[in-house]
Amino acid sequence: MDRGTLFLVVACQAVALAALLHRGGWDWATLKATGRRLSLYPRLYGAMGGNAWRCCGLAGHSEVLIVGQRVLAGDGEEAPAAVHVSNGTIVGVYPFNGTRNMEDLPASTRSAAVFNYGGAVVAPGIIDVHVHLNMPGREDWEGMVSGTRAAAAGGVTTVVDMPLNSHPCTTEGPLLKQKLGLAKARSVVNTGFWGGLVPENAADRVTLEALLESGAFGLKAFMSPSGINDFPNVSRHHIESAIPLLKERGMPLFVHAESVSHVHVPEGDPRAYSQYMASRPPKFESDAISTLIDVLNSSTHESKAGFRIHIAHLADANSLAMIQDAKSYGLPLTVETCPHYLSFWAEGIPDGATQYKCAPPLRDSANAIRLWDAVASGTIDMLSSDHSPAPPGMKHLDNGDFGKAWGGISGRSRAAVSTGTKLQFCRIHTHGCAALCCQKLCINYLPSANMGPVVWLLLWVWPVVATSE
Ligand SMILES: *[C@@H]1O[C@H](CO)[C@@H](O)[C@H](O)[C@H]1NC(C)=O
Ligand SMILES: *[C@@H]1O[C@H](CO)[C@@H](O)[C@H](O)[C@H]1NC(C)=O
Ligand SMILES: *[C@@H]1O[C@H](CO)[C@@H](O)[C@H](O)[C@H]1NC(C)=O
Ligand SMILES: *[C@@H]1O[C@H](CO)[C@@H](O)[C@H](O)[C@H]1NC(C)=O
Repeated sequence: MDRGTLFLVVACQAVALAALLHRGGWDWATLKATGRRLSLYPRLYGAMGGNAWRCCGLAGHSEVLIVGQRVLAGDGEEAPAAVHVSNGTIVGVYPFNGTRNMEDLPASTRSAAVFNYGGAVVAPGIIDVHVHLNMPGREDWEGMVSGTRAAAAGGVTTVVDMPLNSHPCTTEGPLLKQKLGLAKARSVVNTGFWGGLVPENAADRVTLEALLESGAFGLKAFMSPSGINDFPNVSRHHIESAIPLLKERGMPLFVHAESVSHVHVPEGDPRAYSQYMASRPPKFESDAISTLIDVLNSSTHESKAGFRIHIAHLADANSLAMIQDAKSYGLPLTVETCPHYLSFWAEGIPDGATQYKCAPPLRDSANAIRLWDAVASGTIDMLSSDHSPAPPGMKHLDNGDFGKAWGGISGRSRAAVSTGTKLQFCRIHTHGCAALCCQKLCINYLPSANMGPVVWLLLWVWPVVATSE
């Protein structure tokens, strides 16, 4: 936790809630609309349907009224409100400014247990569409129990897991079903899965269909070596083979967009961050992104709503212009960045601090500021954590060798806090951060076209205390 920041997430005291959301935002009217339990949603599993309800601080109350002076709703504006939850479903949100006008609330709320969170922020849970839970097969890297608890601790109430670094990787339907079974028993937050697109299954329509039908939200591919031998990278040709199916189904293709080409990096200190950064220049990203844009622009297949190529973890601000162009041109392209690209800067990374190693690499502060601008302007569509833990030994913390260290930053439980802190630093209102995370950026990967926009909300309470670092 950042020093001086009091970040008290009582996710586990909160209640699992569902609400209908509209693409692009949620509002009072929407929340008041019929609540709907997402446990019915076959693609997501987690304990929310039953266990979370029972294990949480609000257990024993099937009717709950969550009251606060700073309930986030509408355009991310905070307002005094009372949220009525019946059996885990939001059934009403009412303007409410204290106990004095309790009698103004509908009669249906009378029997509810009242939890007053006072001046703490009550916000919808964050949806994180990019995490690595490392299960099955690599529980020593983390696993679903710890991984989803870390999510809950960070205010994240829905995660979507990548097809790697589990072992085996999720490249076939039965393997995805196995993950769903594991999540059902272990996840404390809603959990969904991406399927893996690899050279071996790229042209195998039957396998890809089975993967999607088993519950994958879409596919994920790497354009550069993934670091996991049994999850090889694909070529442009492989991506083009898979696109017609994804277009028909209205499902996204998530891409690690770096095209590795030869770079000459003079011998230097392997403990120096600059050495690692130079080995993966921005050109890798811009080459890959330009290929993806060209793939989209060349494909003539009809596409159902929901299809898009989604660029994972953008680090390079130089690629933003190209992305913005492609979007303006009407190509179905979306992009995420991660809190670490916004919050940490190459200049600040000490020698040997391999916990900062990830790919693409963290770049300098000028780059980060441009990413911030793109988040604010909407060119960057969402934030995801790319939470990717590894055993400490693999990070080579003892010798600080950036070349040998595993690439991956695990910080889901801190993502909101690091972003929130820097948002303050960047003079953007803190509640803007919550709105950004909860509303604009995090909504909307989960709902696939056929389901309509439905996501879980888990109210969590976040007293924001302004700090200096
Ligand atoms: C709440 O859920 C319980 C158990 O699932 C059920 O018995 C009860 O009827 C539900 N109550 C309402 C108001 O839906
Ligand atoms: C609270 O709401 C009541 C109406 O229910 C209103 O009369 C009162 O002025 C409000 N108080 C504040 C502090 O906004
Ligand atoms: C995977 O990436 C490596 C390194 O860039 C490249 O040499 C190889 O051709 C790529 N594989 C495919 C199938 O494109
Ligand atoms: C898409 O292709 C057309 C025709 O070749 C070209 O004029 C246009 O600039 C391309 N758009 C993008 C965003 O690349």
